[in-house]
Amino acid sequence: MRVETLIARVEGPALDRHPAILEGAAIIREGGLVAFPTETVYGLGADASSVAAVDRIFQAKKRPPDNPVIVHVAELRDLSRIGRLDAAGGRRLLERFWPGPLTVVVPALEPVRSAVCRGLETVAVRMPAHPVALALIRAAGRPLAAPSANLSGRPSPTTARHVLEDLEGRIPLILDGGQCDVGIESTVLDLSGDSAAILRPGAVGAQQIAEHLGSEVALAGSRPERSPGTRHRHYQPRAPVIAIGLDVSSIAVDRLLETLSGRLRHHRLIGYIATRRAPKASAGLQVLDRTGSGLLTRNFYRDIRHLDRRESHLIFVEAVGAGEPIMDRLSRASVCSLTRKDFDDPGLADRVLSLIPE
Ligand code: TXA
Ligand code: MG
Repeated sequence: MRVETLIARVEGPALDRHPAILEGAAIIREGGLVAFPTETVYGLGADASSVAAVDRIFQAKKRPPDNPVIVHVAELRDLSRIGRLDAAGGRRLLERFWPGPLTVVVPALEPVRSAVCRGLETVAVRMPAHPVALALIRAAGRPLAAPSANLSGRPSPTTARHVLEDLEGRIPLILDGGQCDVGIESTVLDLSGDSAAILRPGAVGAQQIAEHLGSEVALAGSRPERSPGTRHRHYQPRAPVIAIGLDVSSIAVDRLLETLSGRLRHHRLIGYIATRRAPKASAGLQVLDRTGSGLLTRNFYRDIRHLDRRESHLIFVEAVGAGEPIMDRLSRASVCSLTRKDFDDPGLADRVLSLIPE
């Protein structure tokens, strides 16, 4: 069933009494869905203790039914109603990083387990560092189950407009809190086993976690069997995304782009996200300059969506200076990564052109 989707800008003091927050809280209490900003990406929230409400998230996003969602709290003490934080050093860790972009996976308790865990015995929980998210959770008076507010398989949304692009007509309300500061999803840390393991890299790194936890932390990718989200395809825009490796010279890039733009006529566009130096201008080339620190991460999903909307036929992303979290997202979004050796091949331009779908 199609619903009208409203966007409400939420800012200023006394957010707890803001009409849009009160409206959002009422929708949540009735079992409905509300999209809201967090410091990482926008979330699509529902009452985490209601099976029917959480099922609506899966329908609206077309999310695979076996992929559990994160539960969001506004106070550390709310965690004790959702899961068991048994791990030594766990409390110290959360006191340091909450609110913030760190999600922990712990043994789950009812009723949240039946509603969000999709057959697992564990639950993922985080406290977001965004005043609008915190105000909504408090006003609803209950924890919110919330995955990223995109259609499944699309880039995570970092503005209210991105949410609208994907979910217009499918949800009643989007709370608009501006562009997300971090720009990629939270670190997911599994604390449910004998040793801690990162399931998804994010802004809070392994080193920082290990320091506060007081024990070693296994890196992302080491426990794929524990991470349901990694089984599914992710973030693939229509145009093929090609990563440019660290060892590729700027001159080699300029030459390839020149060849490509000469051969791609008739309004066919090439998108290029630069982290080292913006390449030389050529016909049909659109460059997004992200050479400042943190700009690549903050704008990554936004840039991919922008270039996709402009109907680019190829999207290049420089991996120079990108940390582990972005390399993780880039490897999921891209069809290949070019290294210096690829540029020795005189047929490289043909190979790249052959990646464009008919
Ligand atoms: O920054 C974020 O984490 C955002 C904002 C909205 O908070 N949320 C987000 O949710 O990215 P989502 O659903 O797009 O990603 C949740 C990830 C998925 O990879 C899922 O498989 C994993 O967390 N996850 C959830 N529950 C889990 C569990 N019990 N065990 C292992 N992984 C779990
Ligand atoms: Mg997601």
